[in-house]
Amino acid sequence: MSFTDQYIVHEHDVLVIGAGGAGLRAAIEASAAGVKVGVICKSLLGKAHTVMAEGGMAAAMGNVDDRDNWEVHFADTMRGGQYLNNPIMVEHHAKESPARVLELESWGAVFDRTKEGKILQRNFGGHRYPRLAHVGDRTGLELIRTLQDHGIHQGMEVFMEMTVVSLLTTGGRISGVLGYDRERGRMHVWKAKAVILATGGIGKSFRITSNSWEGTGDGHALAYEAGAELMDMEFVQFHPTGMVWPPSVRGILVTEGVRGEGGVLRNSEGKRFMFDDVPEAYRNQVAADEEEGWRYVCGDKHANRPPELLTRDHVARCINREIKAGRGSPHGGVYLDIGWIKEKLPNAAAHIQRKLPSMYHQFKQLAGVDITSEAMEVGPTTHYVMGGVAVDGHTQMSCVPGLFAAGEVTAGLHGANRLGGNSLSDLIVFGKLAGEHAAKFVKEHGAVEVDQAQVEAHTRAIMAPFDRPNGENPYAIQQDLQNTMQDLVGIVRIQSEMELALNKIAEYKARMKNVGVIGHREYNPGWHTAIDLPCMLTVSESITRSALDRKESRGAQFRDDYPEKSAECATFNLVAKKAPDGSMQVTRRPVVQMRDDLKAVIEKMK
Ligand code: FUM
Repeated sequence: MSFTDQYIVHEHDVLVIGAGGAGLRAAIEASAAGVKVGVICKSLLGKAHTVMAEGGMAAAMGNVDDRDNWEVHFADTMRGGQYLNNPIMVEHHAKESPARVLELESWGAVFDRTKEGKILQRNFGGHRYPRLAHVGDRTGLELIRTLQDHGIHQGMEVFMEMTVVSLLTTGGRISGVLGYDRERGRMHVWKAKAVILATGGIGKSFRITSNSWEGTGDGHALAYEAGAELMDMEFVQFHPTGMVWPPSVRGILVTEGVRGEGGVLRNSEGKRFMFDDVPEAYRNQVAADEEEGWRYVCGDKHANRPPELLTRDHVARCINREIKAGRGSPHGGVYLDIGWIKEKLPNAAAHIQRKLPSMYHQFKQLAGVDITSEAMEVGPTTHYVMGGVAVDGHTQMSCVPGLFAAGEVTAGLHGANRLGGNSLSDLIVFGKLAGEHAAKFVKEHGAVEVDQAQVEAHTRAIMAPFDRPNGENPYAIQQDLQNTMQDLVGIVRIQSEMELALNKIAEYKARMKNVGVIGHREYNPGWHTAIDLPCMLTVSESITRSALDRKESRGAQFRDDYPEKSAECATFNLVAKKAPDGSMQVTRRPVVQMRDDLKAVIEKMK
């Protein structure tokens, strides 16, 4: 059989893998530059984890508090990332975000408004001033809708329900990708001069996650296999508030916007436990301000910020502590109460329904809880990975020529911990940058032929499970892996448990070699899971190895055996790369040095 009988062949200049915010924004930019663009979606167009960034996108527009500007946003993001961030990316992000938000508005996004008619901005953890431009609690959804509506008129070709199984390289440069359509199981080859990874995150490697089934770390693993580097993989963000009950919805996100609108956290004794964890001076200041809650809820910009809006890593650990100490809710969470604002605000119920419509319906329909009068039960959920493909901060290109990355699959912007709301702005700022530079790359470099032998070898590998109908069940390996990562490499880590996790991952890799599926190639979820497994294992190994090597607690990584920050560890990022013998090597790379003018900004903000 000839190559074209076996494979459906497509040809593009720039191929974008992933159609969330970063992928769509990259595709729009590349199309606008006049090159031929294809977009591959693992599921349907518009179904992306972007919609799980509900509370808003961070941009220092100063609409609610005119003290805000790019310098404050820069300093907040560096502090949130515990100075492991790439300052070049952080600077670009802080300066560009306002223009990207206004661009979305000009493309039809309908943001909430201040009384004066400006785009409204709300408070979120770690941001000094109200900074999150938002659309109720559906901001990610509005972002996707807007980009989709705008992008569809740019002439890009969209491929839905397709999974990419390998990046193709020729002479070390990207030449295309290999994948299959999930519906029919047919193999496709996309020839491309440049590829942009925008595949999102890795949450499905953990048992409790806000990610849906697509979040299996495909882009991370594809890049790693193609020779790119994965940086900062130890930093996995556990969002403090996911649903905990009923079991079928465990992990679904409860937006930080609830706390941004005045929601408070309490334990089973009714205590606002976040006050236990803030410095005394701050505690006294808040306590002395009897009207703090009132002023805060009413949007007084000088009100003290409640401790519920400390950074996510901090809040998640406090919740974990309360649950472990036996002060949790009946289903293993704590209480999040927004209904209390009725003591302070006339028409509070209507206000909550207007500001948090998705949360209102989510709890009403899924848990039978009316959040305007009853507290929600919440607990930490795996939400985001700060680590990803290491890229050049000016172009978004990885160390593999022609391979670009944007959004969650990329490392650099967020360092050791991401501030809420910085993901949506990340997507539109760096999606644009990746699209621009991928198009430029294409114009400066000719096409390269795909290597057919490579295509055939990868195809044989993904078909192999059909030869083992009595082999290992892919779902069993997936479940074991999720339990291992959740229980041994979760919010609180310790060397012995992570070493055990590494042994288990090696065991799962061995089991995976014997994975078997039955049936045929047409919509076969068992086969799809067997294909996702190697990605999940690569990601899990890189997280665990990096977490073991970082012998300190910083940002999203908390180690019980090294509870303090170490000055030495502040000097490097960890980079995982595939060695020639196929093993994973984790090495230290000095952090990108900050320019003097940026150091001065940090000093000024202190
Ligand atoms: O809580 C949230 O709405 C999530 C936002 C984010 O992850 O940026």
